[in-house]
Amino acid sequence: MKVLGIETSCDETAIGVVEDGTHMLTSIVASQVELHATYGGVVPEIASRQHVQAIIPVLDEALARAGCSMGEMDAVAATFGPGLAGALLVGWNFAKALAYAYEKPLVPINHLEGHVYAAWLDRPEVAEFPALVLIVSGGHSDVVLMEGHGRYRRLGQTVDDAAGEAFDKVARLLGLGFPGGPAIDKLARDAAKPSLRLPRAKLDRPYDFSFSGLKTRVQQLVREGNAAETRELAAAFQESVVDSLVTKAVAAAEENDARQVILSGGVAANSALRAELAERSRVPVLVPPPALCTDNGAMIAACGYYRWQAGDVAGLDADVAPGLVIG
Ligand code: KG4
Ligand code: ZN
Repeated sequence: MKVLGIETSCDETAIGVVEDGTHMLTSIVASQVELHATYGGVVPEIASRQHVQAIIPVLDEALARAGCSMGEMDAVAATFGPGLAGALLVGWNFAKALAYAYEKPLVPINHLEGHVYAAWLDRPEVAEFPALVLIVSGGHSDVVLMEGHGRYRRLGQTVDDAAGEAFDKVARLLGLGFPGGPAIDKLARDAAKPSLRLPRAKLDRPYDFSFSGLKTRVQQLVREGNAAETRELAAAFQESVVDSLVTKAVAAAEENDARQVILSGGVAANSALRAELAERSRVPVLVPPPALCTDNGAMIAACGYYRWQAGDVAGLDADVAPGLVIG
């Protein structure tokens, strides 16, 4: 069974084709990141307009690479939330047009659930439940217990900035440009273990996160003209974020007898986070390759297969849901 997956929730126009939920035939991503970098962040209207321009060429390329036609698809899956409303509308309505024209089922996908399914693409391990999922992206930092396909219980979330947002804001403070995550990751990789220790937030709920205090601390140090060099600050910041994320994910996995830990979302591309979670978890950790951690259409197609099998099909009047959550 072949599913086409369409993703336009933020600044990537992405389409993938996946067979039987785990075998990736192709994943084409047209990134707008350089366009938005000039503004230091994603500009919603520019994102929507770029999706309009890119989506048909991206579809053509995805079908050519997958070696199949639209008629051969068994279903069309697309992200309907969460994300930027104008950006979501482009991919969602494009999916509707394809579903209508080719008489295919239209499968609505929660972007966050899509990130989870990137973990099982093209690898020998199969899904084992319960799985503890840590979704860390530009908009979300969620600790979720996945009890089965489509069954989620959210155990924690950020009370302020998302992990990726914190990376992006701190990178801006340090003059490292946008997006900040890859820049900080690269700088910290070359740094020695930082002697500076930045705070970890203490919260009432055990699996919640807070990163805004950490960002403020970096801001203070930069303003005070602290002697620590940029590399040291970047490394100390990353160490604090990674420690909070890993400590909570591992504790949640143990408390809930998870059989697998899934790390996903754009921040899952972070090399220190990947290494430390693998080291500290007692159960196998599944992390997609970096290109499948950030937004892509293959994860939407993979998730779409399971949703479609479960009978989750949308009508052609279905709307987008920019504020959708998971669990
Ligand atoms: O999942 P994603 O592509 O889009 C959203 O759904 O938000 O995540 C983008 C976020 C950005 O904040 C970016 O800075 C962060 O993921 N990111 C990273 C790395 N690569 C991307 N953060 C830390 N280290 C990285 N290597
Ligand atoms: Zn994402």
